[in-house]
Amino acid sequence: MYHVLSCDQFSRADLEGIFRLTDNIRAQPRAFRTALAGKIVATVFYEPSTRTRLSFEAAVLRLGGTVISTENAKEMSSAIKGESLPDTIRVIGGYCDAIVLRHPDIRSAEDAARVSQVPVLNAGSGSGEHPTQAVLDVYTIYQYKQKIDGLKVAVLGDLLFGRTVHSLVKLLALYEDITIYGLSHDVLSLPEDYSAYLEARGIRYIPCRSLPEIPPEVDVLYHTRTQTERFANTDLPIEEFVIDKKALDYFSPHTILMHPLPRRNEIAPDVDGDRRAVFFAQSHYGMYVRMSLLHSILKQDSEG
Ligand code: NCD
Repeated sequence: MYHVLSCDQFSRADLEGIFRLTDNIRAQPRAFRTALAGKIVATVFYEPSTRTRLSFEAAVLRLGGTVISTENAKEMSSAIKGESLPDTIRVIGGYCDAIVLRHPDIRSAEDAARVSQVPVLNAGSGSGEHPTQAVLDVYTIYQYKQKIDGLKVAVLGDLLFGRTVHSLVKLLALYEDITIYGLSHDVLSLPEDYSAYLEARGIRYIPCRSLPEIPPEVDVLYHTRTQTERFANTDLPIEEFVIDKKALDYFSPHTILMHPLPRRNEIAPDVDGDRRAVFFAQSHYGMYVRMSLLHSILKQDSEG
């Protein structure tokens, strides 16, 4: 692994390796304290972020590396002056050992990787993909279910613009006997590209329009925020399928409730104490999964 651009690039074996290293890092974090000593990672974010940027930065620091960062790259001097993304990447790549990039353009990660002298990690490419989030999501599912094969997973909310869902369904497609239920408003359905991707890999994809269409024994409910910032047309529906305690109680005691966060109203705070609500654990695992990804990429880079 050199760049992390899209979930297309991962095999099951890649994920198993990343998960094994994540487990090792969690078990003995002190053993990794200097793994990235002398390495500099740039976090370049053209869209807002809390979790992704800070968990990447914490991951670098916990591995003994150093971070250079622009929290608001679209206000950065080069962008204001009209510099292209490829030029900015060429320049920043000369200062650091890896670039973590979030950008509104769907093709941004590939465009950056094409010119970058250092590995690029896609931390969200518009309404396209968010591969490192999907790796941490599958890691989280694995922690709770001890397997991925045979699971029934429901993705809810904004399946059209939600990049975390796009990346997650691609990773689930690596496994056997997966059923995915997609609950959304009609206009926020999973794009055709993704349903075709699933179909080509023998994954059952079942679009739903109301909560009771999802079977109560589903293993995972993966809810998402309506990505209102992507709506050019404000007539699109923004009301959510709310999961509150009553809605959650329709599901099995073994169903886990996930969310990439930030949530708005789509998950009510009255579920927070329920042991099926695992979204804060999920975001915490994210830091360790990002440590594992950075470690794999940067160690290989310095050895290769
Ligand atoms: C998501 C994102 O930015 O795509 N957040 C995250 O990275 N954890 C989801 C969102 O913003 O709704």
